[in-house]
Amino acid sequence: MTSLFFLVFLFSSLLTRNVDADPNYIDALSKSLLFFQGQRSGPLPTDQKISWRGNSGVNDGSLANVDLTGGYYTEGDNVKHNFPMAFTTTMLSWSTLEYGGQMGPELQNARVSIRWATDYLLKCATKTQGQLYVGVGDLSANHPCWERPEDMDTPRTVYSVSASNPGSDVAAETAAALAAASMVFREVDPQYSTSLLATSKIVMEFAMQHQGSHSDAPPPRFRTFYYSYSVYKDELMWGAAWLLKATDDLNYKNFIESLGGGEQTDIFNWNNKYSGAYVLLSQRALVNNDSNFEQYKQEAESFICKILPNTPSSSTSYTSGGLMYNYKLPDSNLQHVTAITFLLTTYANYMKATQHRFYCGNSDVIVPDVLIKVSKQQVDYILGENPAKMSYMVGYGPSFPMRIHHRGSSIPSQAHPNCTEGNQFLYTPNPNPNILTGAIVGGPDEKDEYLDKRDDYIHSEPATYINAPFVGTLAYFASGGSA
Ligand SMILES: *[C@@H]1O[C@H](CO)[C@@H](O)[C@H](O)[C@H]1NC(C)=O
Ligand SMILES: *[C@@H]1O[C@H](CO)[C@@H](O)[C@H](O)[C@H]1NC(C)=O
Repeated sequence: MTSLFFLVFLFSSLLTRNVDADPNYIDALSKSLLFFQGQRSGPLPTDQKISWRGNSGVNDGSLANVDLTGGYYTEGDNVKHNFPMAFTTTMLSWSTLEYGGQMGPELQNARVSIRWATDYLLKCATKTQGQLYVGVGDLSANHPCWERPEDMDTPRTVYSVSASNPGSDVAAETAAALAAASMVFREVDPQYSTSLLATSKIVMEFAMQHQGSHSDAPPPRFRTFYYSYSVYKDELMWGAAWLLKATDDLNYKNFIESLGGGEQTDIFNWNNKYSGAYVLLSQRALVNNDSNFEQYKQEAESFICKILPNTPSSSTSYTSGGLMYNYKLPDSNLQHVTAITFLLTTYANYMKATQHRFYCGNSDVIVPDVLIKVSKQQVDYILGENPAKMSYMVGYGPSFPMRIHHRGSSIPSQAHPNCTEGNQFLYTPNPNPNILTGAIVGGPDEKDEYLDKRDDYIHSEPATYINAPFVGTLAYFASGGSA
């Protein structure tokens, strides 16, 4: 009996434990989208699959006499930060526009995840004339409390921007999200798509006409980690680039040119979108062969040359295990990795459309597969091919983070601790009782090590903007995309 079991075990091990085998990208894609259900705010639908979550924030907006229910909690706390939420939505939409055809049955889940955000963003943009709501939940009161969203009892303060209190950063990102989503729904729900695009135009007009950063506004401004440090030109370029794509209205191109050029950067995240705008605009140069967009192709390639290892202008660090590592902004390092690999993969696909290739100074020729190879290596690292031999996506693979910095995941659903009582669940060494399937955490440190400690939010906290770009890249590899 024992030996028979052993033989069966050995045989199945031989079949499945092929060290060169790719990760299961289809499983990872499915989980990366399921994660968004765990971040939902508002009344939940009957087909909610992450069943340890319940209704929450059901009176959001009531302090301003408007309905602002819905949307997503950005990370492990219970505040709705529209700035990163809109970026999340833009990246989910871009993922779906580029790779929706390769998502199979997950395409519908991708649309649902986008719509959960855009239903909320539409409310934020249309409920009160002349105002854009930009967040719900008092950060300084909410953040110290370790409470589930279902039990939270701190003020659900409502924040907004307006002509006298501008916020071009959050407004242009909101416009980008609505414009990108309008293309996702163009065929499947034309009426919804039209409403998204019409609202996007109005919000973008507001961002362009009343320039300023919402972090510079007088109190009661939205006190949040997510503000754009008084810099919003990148969001203006990004928002206009998305509207140009959605409308083909060349006034948006003129506006982008009036901004007088962007910055050369080696990052792409919720706060810095120049490189994303360059790649998006370069699609016209490469795929549509429109020479008026040549300069953005140059900018995109200059960005990529900073990312790739071993080019003369490379400015990106890699750990000894092979992970891109941002020493300047090490908080949630994987946010940079998922966002940048999306740009690499997508630019490679634009290059393939016209068999384009380029050089980084005196480098070897850069063909699309050079980009895809780096992208695949990063994706595979996140899914378990790394020195710690663990996946950084919760619920994926045999070993994954068990103590993520996330209130809902770490507090048992039957417990209802108040603000301070919740700390026992923050500091316990026990694994989280609720599995937030699909959540990608901040990731390992610069030594490829991961301590799996709940209070180490820099490494153990998930966020919607880490997952969103990963959805597209996973769809590419899940459908057999390879280097
Ligand atoms: C791209 O446009 C140029 C003119 O701007 C033209 O010479 C060239 O043939 C076009 N290439 C393709 C593939 O259409
Ligand atoms: C939380 O409950 C404890 C008793 O378990 C109590 O001492 C404390 O005052 C409560 N805190 C709040 C903020 O309600």
